[in-house]
Amino acid sequence: MSILVTGGAGYIGSHTCIELLNAGYEIVVVDNFYNSKRESLKRIAELSGKEFTFYECDIRDKEGLDKIFKAEKIDAVIHFAGLKAVGESCAKPLEYYDNNIAGTVCLCEVMKENGCKKIVFSSSATVYGSNNVSPLKETMMTGGTTNPYGTTKYMIEIILSDLFKSDNEWSISILRYFNPIGAHKSGRIGEDPNGIPNNLMPYITQVAIGKRECLGVFGDDYDTHDGTGVRDYIHVVDLALGHVKALGRALNQPGLDIYNLGTGTGYSVLDVVKAFEKASGVTINYKIAPRRPGDIATCYSDPSKAQAELGWKAERGIEEMCADSWRWQSTNPNGYPD
Ligand code: NAD
Ligand code: WQD
Repeated sequence: MSILVTGGAGYIGSHTCIELLNAGYEIVVVDNFYNSKRESLKRIAELSGKEFTFYECDIRDKEGLDKIFKAEKIDAVIHFAGLKAVGESCAKPLEYYDNNIAGTVCLCEVMKENGCKKIVFSSSATVYGSNNVSPLKETMMTGGTTNPYGTTKYMIEIILSDLFKSDNEWSISILRYFNPIGAHKSGRIGEDPNGIPNNLMPYITQVAIGKRECLGVFGDDYDTHDGTGVRDYIHVVDLALGHVKALGRALNQPGLDIYNLGTGTGYSVLDVVKAFEKASGVTINYKIAPRRPGDIATCYSDPSKAQAELGWKAERGIEEMCADSWRWQSTNPNGYPD
């Protein structure tokens, strides 16, 4: 069974590759290294003890993708490749629409032409917009996204559902991730952001390692238990295992399925800071800063559908997430080497 993993060199993709190899799948990875390093592929092989095929290819390169499908026997695709920085997407909307939407359309066209109709897609809690009240359920309205990145995920969900309506032989699994953090237990792979991190956990770990002076906590006057924003942080290895389960279902039955992948528990920014300090023994210098535009007070999942239908549940708690993030950052202070 051979699975094409687009964006497999990235943060979530690399962890998922390891779990796919551990589960006995053969994988073919495609990445253009826009936001990742070759070294992560070496470490996937090192940690899994298995070899796999890799192609450096952009998913918008139709000819290139077609050659890969002709050379390999691909049974299904897990599609991570895409751009993901919210702020950057406001500055460069056309790049985001092109990479994420045109890239996905190109990939689906090549899949269809080669008779491969099974795909697991990386969506995001961002598709719920700002009008729903947590816990968020898959049946709630989507849309009302507040930035081009979020809109690409929302639009791709619509494109995939139209594709399924046009041809019920497709198996499409849309996974809405909440806030992935943590790293592989070994500390050998993890999140390696370029420049100043946008997300909370990499910012905290960079303050802890001394690369950044102080964490800005974006707002302490939200309607939450301590005034800071509440999110559903999920360990990246739990997320990776969710993909293995979703793939198993997609391989066995056609359909369009949507699943939240979260823990169902919300933690505030200050809860995360405290949990990190406890797990690492390092004190985090922080100061309260103005709210970040576009942020909402609270966002957490109802993950019960994934448990009922996929038999999947997040197992790793916030301290383990913090300890694993810290192991990765402290043993790789500059991320992956070039
Ligand atoms: P990442 O940037 O670490 O990984 C994405 C990978 O895709 C990178 O290796 C990048 O080089 C590659 N890529 C980008 N454009 C490409 C293209 N046109 N052709 C080939 N490769 C390309 O990001 P991640 O955190 O691992 O996220 C993976 C997916 O999950 C993304 O689609 C992202 O939008 C989605 N997602 C991420 C989060 C999060 O917080 N990390 C949350 C929800 C959804
Ligand atoms: C978490 C909390 C911030 C940084 C984003 C995307 C979402 C998804 C996951 C891809 C919030 C606060 C953060 C900092 C802070 N990505 N914070 N200081 O915004 O929930 O979700 O990543 O799909 O689409 O929007 O995650 O990690 O940026 O923020 O106080 O330096 O931490 O205000 O409350 P977010 P995040």
